[in-house]
Amino acid sequence: MKRTVYITRKLPEEIVDKLSSRFNVKMWSEEDVPVPREVLLREIEEVDGLICLLTEKIDEEVLNKARQLKVISNVAVGYNNIDVQAANEKGMVVTNTPSVLTETTADLTFALLMAAARRVVEGSDYLRSGEWGAWSLMQMTGQDIFGATIGIIGLGRIGEALVKRAKGFDMNVLYYNRTRKPEKEVELGIHYRDMKDLLQQSDFVCLLLPYSPEVHHLIGKEELSFMKRNAILVNTARGGLVDEEALYHALKTREIWGAGLDVFEQEPVPIDHPLLSLPNVVTLPHIGSASLKTRMRMAELAADNMVSVLTGNEAITPVLIK
Ligand code: NAP
Ligand code: GLV
Repeated sequence: MKRTVYITRKLPEEIVDKLSSRFNVKMWSEEDVPVPREVLLREIEEVDGLICLLTEKIDEEVLNKARQLKVISNVAVGYNNIDVQAANEKGMVVTNTPSVLTETTADLTFALLMAAARRVVEGSDYLRSGEWGAWSLMQMTGQDIFGATIGIIGLGRIGEALVKRAKGFDMNVLYYNRTRKPEKEVELGIHYRDMKDLLQQSDFVCLLLPYSPEVHHLIGKEELSFMKRNAILVNTARGGLVDEEALYHALKTREIWGAGLDVFEQEPVPIDHPLLSLPNVVTLPHIGSASLKTRMRMAELAADNMVSVLTGNEAITPVLIK
């Protein structure tokens, strides 16, 4: 008998066709809108596989409704939207999409860093508003990138890809990671620091670690107070890593110089969010991995994981929690 797969959000047609050739496939909607919670809770009951995005919270309530679910395939590398432990305890495999998005997300991280440092968005807005009267020496002056010190918190796949970009700009690279990586220090020419030293010594602090409740508000009032006054915080990991109220205050009072944010605690970030009122913040709508090729590869890998598990094979990229 054909297995049943539920897809919570519109995926590219060729991916849906590929899945449909093997499984009974049901997709929430042809419109690209999130599945309502009550629909997900109902649909999950009878399916063998679930393909979801990071916008769906797959918690115990959802898992408890599932009568025959074997695999949850997340179309993202981050999996903090899924209670992986609870799923594993029920014998379900959880998969994600690592590696295929690494370089694209590192590109966007560096783009945010550059945009915040050189006031790219602010400068563009200034010009378009008609305020640009005449060229002047100290107008729109920003921070240098070449030769500066970058501190990367979370030296995994994307963190390492960011190092390569930073090295191209002659940056001094510091890192902090849960596990120290001495071989990477030699290979990449980077230096380990504990969190406090990294925050005190870096001109740019980039967050690239996964979110979990243990690292909720990892960057708060105290951590921001350790940072240099010319420092720029870049977050392309998850919004929950940063205490946004403390960040707003630090930016408003110029305790730190700027920020580049691709992610927020609440997404979509409310339009009246205080951070959006600050000129020294560059904001993006969670588009770290959003190149055409990469989003396609992510969808393909999510589908391939589904096929693999539902045909009795190992998952290609299972989430293994430490
Ligand atoms: P990864 O290869 O698993 O790297 C994560 C790194 O963070 C690992 O080196 C890990 O250390 C380290 N880490 C974990 N917990 C830590 C902690 N408490 N303190 C310090 N370091 C810690 O993951 P990745 O592929 O680079 O992705 C990283 C994150 O980026 C994802 O989880 C996701 O949230 C985010 N992301 C965002 C976008 C976007 O669109 N903005 C796109 C892709 C990814 P160990 O070596 O000890 O495990
Ligand atoms: C995006 O945020 C991802 O985790 O892939």
